[in-house]
Amino acid sequence: MRLRIFFAILLALPAAAAESGEAVYAQRCARCHELGSDRIPTRETLRKMPATRILRALNYGVMIAIAYTMNTSQREAVAKWLGTPGGDPEPSPAAFCADRSVKLAARPASQWNGWSPGADNARFQPAGAAGLNVDGVRNLKLKWAYAFEGDITAFAQPTILDGNLFVGSAGGAIHDLDAQTGCTRWVYQASGPVRSSILAVHEGARYMLLFGDQSGWFYALDAVTGKLLWKKKVEAHDAARLTGAPVAFHGVVFVPVASWEENRASDPAYECCTMRGSLVALRVRDGSQVWKTYMVDPPKRIGKKFGPSGAGIWSAPTLDIKRGLIYVTTGDNYSNPVTKLSDAVVALRIADGRIVWSRQFTDNDVFSGACVASPDCGPDFDFGSSAILVNAGGRSLLVAGQKSGVVHALDADKRGEVVWELRVGKGSRNGGVLWGMASDGQNVYAAVSDVSRKTHKPGDPADLRTNDVDPAAGGGLTAIRLSDGAKVWYAPAHPCDPPKPGCSPSQPAAVTAIPGVVFSGSNDGHMRAYAAEDGRVLWDFDTARDFDTVNGVPGHGGSIDGPGAVVVKGMVYVNSGYSRQSGMPGNVLLAFQ
Ligand code: HEC
Repeated sequence: MRLRIFFAILLALPAAAAESGEAVYAQRCARCHELGSDRIPTRETLRKMPATRILRALNYGVMIAIAYTMNTSQREAVAKWLGTPGGDPEPSPAAFCADRSVKLAARPASQWNGWSPGADNARFQPAGAAGLNVDGVRNLKLKWAYAFEGDITAFAQPTILDGNLFVGSAGGAIHDLDAQTGCTRWVYQASGPVRSSILAVHEGARYMLLFGDQSGWFYALDAVTGKLLWKKKVEAHDAARLTGAPVAFHGVVFVPVASWEENRASDPAYECCTMRGSLVALRVRDGSQVWKTYMVDPPKRIGKKFGPSGAGIWSAPTLDIKRGLIYVTTGDNYSNPVTKLSDAVVALRIADGRIVWSRQFTDNDVFSGACVASPDCGPDFDFGSSAILVNAGGRSLLVAGQKSGVVHALDADKRGEVVWELRVGKGSRNGGVLWGMASDGQNVYAAVSDVSRKTHKPGDPADLRTNDVDPAAGGGLTAIRLSDGAKVWYAPAHPCDPPKPGCSPSQPAAVTAIPGVVFSGSNDGHMRAYAAEDGRVLWDFDTARDFDTVNGVPGHGGSIDGPGAVVVKGMVYVNSGYSRQSGMPGNVLLAFQ
């Protein structure tokens, strides 16, 4: 009897684990896709799409909000059941360069490598490498546009080495483009969307490209061939997401780990939460792990929930070779109990990952998707941007901007003691300072999102907007003097004129600086260059329009969110299109000269 029960369980297990695509469709898709609405693709239309594209729509496309409560196997099952086998369409032959050979010097003459040109994460390109001054910026003209096929978001920042532009995409395609002309040298298909910027590391006799994807995989490609050298899942949790860029030192790469489990908790049946933010150190050579440090202790079951959880790391770590430390900034807790390393700046030893000191800025911050239904939540004041390491006023400062709208300066020699703090925005769940600030050694330039959203209730299943954005609220750029935290100038936001759906003046994208100029992109689709001395606008380009593209794919710009402008050798590269956060979709990478 006992034995029969045992075997019955054994037989039942695999069946329970494998999702039925048909059942997922009936439960989660049919109510809209069987309606016969002319604005919703029918099942017959979906059946003609590649399964990879359906999966992408769920993971990072128009269906992202619907898929929030679905786990990975449900998404894969329904995509496979609906769609056709095989991958995405190959790029058209006309997109490729006549000469596809990749030339990379061991010491590149010009570059922007990774999240920031320097390990300090200041996002400052010096005059020589920028090849651009105030006059040059005033005369910037569009040189080429590249469109990511099938995507509705362009959120990856390019890395440029000696005329090679390496960039990821929401479709998970990694490209090597000619930085001058935009023609394609090679394409590599990753397993998930890639928004982390790519770090090129010279190891042994070759260049390796290191980056993470939105499903927890971390990759090393050969920069010359675009072929995979190794690939490793740095976090087994289903909801892991690698958004922050990696940094490397002496043959070791440091990978920040965050997650989307916070959104998963919008399903009331979901037992929130078990994901833990971490920093992982891997050998560049083969991806083997050197150390891994979690930001919270292992979760335990507490009633119907699990905790502690959260404290994801969303941004590139900051290396401090002199002190032998690596700094990360962290996000909120998803569930109780609260912990000390959430919404904090944390200093770890480069050698072994041991935590040396930490400074928390918002305590008691438990937040998840369940908070829509429950007001009993924290303010969701993550850090989404890296701490900048600078010397000012005879001190080494770590400057970190938070979604709370406050910029904090900490003394690197005094275990993160606060030197000054300045409020630059209202702060909210949507930020505050979101993806990054820039510093030219005098000032730090902090743009704020402060996007204002209200629930959109259409009663029309074809209208997928979950929120409307206020066309007049949010945005603004503040210059702060590093030595004492005084406000030097404030450049107000530009209300959307005329207002249009998805347009907001918010400035969530990371800021970039070169001598005399500060670049800041907005959700209104504009990339603007401001004078570093007084904040007046020097140059303004509206990217929210159609583009003829070098690869022949229809291109359209939209909101600018996520990374910031990249400036190398007289050229400025800008990504445009961000359909999340209720912004305007788009799929282009633009190059100005
Ligand atoms: C609330 C209604 C609704 C539900 C539920 C829904 N969809 Fe959709 N879906 C839409 C609408 C509307 C569009 C068209 C969006 C557009 O073109 O902007 C769409 C478009 C799509 C597309 C086309 C994306 C592209 O790249 O063009 C795919 C694929 C898709 N849905 C898959 C699914 C799957 C799979 C499910 C179930 C897991 C699902 N949808 C559930 C409303 C829905």
